[in-house]
Amino acid sequence: MCGIVGYLGNKDAMPILLEGLHRLEYRGYDSSGIATLDGKKLSILKAPGRISNLEELIAKKNLQGHVGISHTRWATHGEVTYQNAHPHLDASGRLALVHNGVIENYAKLRDQLEKEGHTFHSQTDSEVLAHLIGRAFDLLEEKSEQTLITALQDALRRVDGTYGIALVHTEVPELVIGARRGSPLVLGIGKEEHFLASDVSALVMHTRDVVYLNDYEIVALRPDSFTISNLQGDGRPYNITTLDGLAHDMDKGAYPHYMIKEIFEQAHTVHEAMRGRLSLEEATAKLGGLEMSNAQLRDIERIVLSGCGSAMHAAMVGEYLLESLAQIPTECEFASEFRYRNLPMTKDTLVFVLSQSGETADTLAALRESQRKGHRTLGICNNVASTIARESNGGVYMHAGAEIGVAATKSFTSQVTILTLIALLLGRIRHLSSSEGTKIIHQLETLPEKIEEVLRLHEEIEAIARRYASARVMLFMGRQFNYPIALEGALKLKEVSYIAASGYPSAELKHGVIALVNEETPSIFIAPHDAVFSKNISSIQEVKARRGPVIALGTEGHCAELESICDHVITIPSTPDYLTPILATIPLQFFAYYTALALGCDVDKPRNLAKSVTVE
Ligand code: AGP
Repeated sequence: MCGIVGYLGNKDAMPILLEGLHRLEYRGYDSSGIATLDGKKLSILKAPGRISNLEELIAKKNLQGHVGISHTRWATHGEVTYQNAHPHLDASGRLALVHNGVIENYAKLRDQLEKEGHTFHSQTDSEVLAHLIGRAFDLLEEKSEQTLITALQDALRRVDGTYGIALVHTEVPELVIGARRGSPLVLGIGKEEHFLASDVSALVMHTRDVVYLNDYEIVALRPDSFTISNLQGDGRPYNITTLDGLAHDMDKGAYPHYMIKEIFEQAHTVHEAMRGRLSLEEATAKLGGLEMSNAQLRDIERIVLSGCGSAMHAAMVGEYLLESLAQIPTECEFASEFRYRNLPMTKDTLVFVLSQSGETADTLAALRESQRKGHRTLGICNNVASTIARESNGGVYMHAGAEIGVAATKSFTSQVTILTLIALLLGRIRHLSSSEGTKIIHQLETLPEKIEEVLRLHEEIEAIARRYASARVMLFMGRQFNYPIALEGALKLKEVSYIAASGYPSAELKHGVIALVNEETPSIFIAPHDAVFSKNISSIQEVKARRGPVIALGTEGHCAELESICDHVITIPSTPDYLTPILATIPLQFFAYYTALALGCDVDKPRNLAKSVTVE
């Protein structure tokens, strides 16, 4: 989704606004733009394509002023063109606005404004919002901070949809105003300077003190103060959150890309997902964040897991985990489908929503729909101050550190780890014995070391990836706990290398998928030495019978049969079936990363994608 930055203070705005865009580029990078105010002089530069195109313009026309806003776009309405890039101006040309979100009734509002003589230069909903606010302000006699806020309140009451906005106006030059509904916006508090951003990653190099705005709130930034109010104008006390550790996450260090850095962090992040949450004494997991007693948890008769993309794949692993370890009927549903499916759920159904960013609009909508029907809804999130984390009735934080690469990597293995802890906890208050619980804990405790072993395979995997990088289609196959890993491996490859990869339960091959198999179409089988190993061997034989190349993930010490029939075998450490998803995912992350490198793709900012999809 789009990235927004606002600045007002004692420094030149342009460098801060531009650096913030670079920090937010992973949120969307179709086009970008900056507006600065120098007294009453409003200067705007914008460019389609990457931020480097904007930098070329700035090099020719320096933007003056200590006040400004900037934007990097992920297109929702209108093509990637100069006209559609933000900031957008109102009819008077004195108000500049940047917007993240979707104004659902923009067409009707645009018609009304055009009938009043307004002319629009873009196809965007955001420009309509700028005109709406500017029009309301122009109708007011007095031109002041208060009347600009009043005009903003009037305009926002007329829009349906979501927004995170920042705006400046030449009539009130020492002011930046922000507002949010459904799209994240955070205020950064500095010394004689204030910041606005759609994500703390754009602020962390300037301040650690931030305030996360809530829906329907408006913030006015002045050089020496700020005010937070709601659409009714009522002020509210605010909590200042102090960020820690984010600067490390924002720094690629010796790594060329965030994605590879975050892949290599997984021995640590999986450990962090478990830290302080395993009790050998009680042979169970301790998850106080669920805010549910054992009695309440014991009353749960059914679980629904919901998320999008990789989070949904983690949820699908969770379904296997909860049914096998806790024997609780569990169902997964795409968050985007959840609200419209009307799942039959009784009062003892517990819902989990999974979201790394905690801002995914479809997942937030699923959370709110579940709560609207009276269900306790817990969140498994990474971003602790995110909307989903704040609106959930409790949950479990991933503690994975900020994930900057667009492709989910460490967040995925952290989510699966946490789902394993939840399954252990629920199993132990139902039928799992103390010794079974202890065994599971001991296996979990070996994960970081086993992950380190898998991480050491990166060169071997790179060689295989480079060999097959020219394939146009790739198939990922897995069964049981690893069927969702086949889907996840296919998604990773799709999103960073643009190869048409798809994942299936291995046995589905013979029900049509095998028509795709030929000498140019590699198949990747996740074939650990588990209960369905021999079934996977049969599926591999079917592919080999049609001369399809096969890359297999096998368990150390049990690869002889795979070695005899496959073109390549990547071995992962032995671990119980229910933990293989965490180990099997990592080679597939490497495979996607190195394939994308071989193809010269932009790994951290793949085309058409954004890190957090905050529109439905
Ligand atoms: C996965 O690599 C993608 N980046 C995408 O599918 C992502 O998992 C999905 O958009 C959900 O994001 P969330 O976890 O932040 O809600």
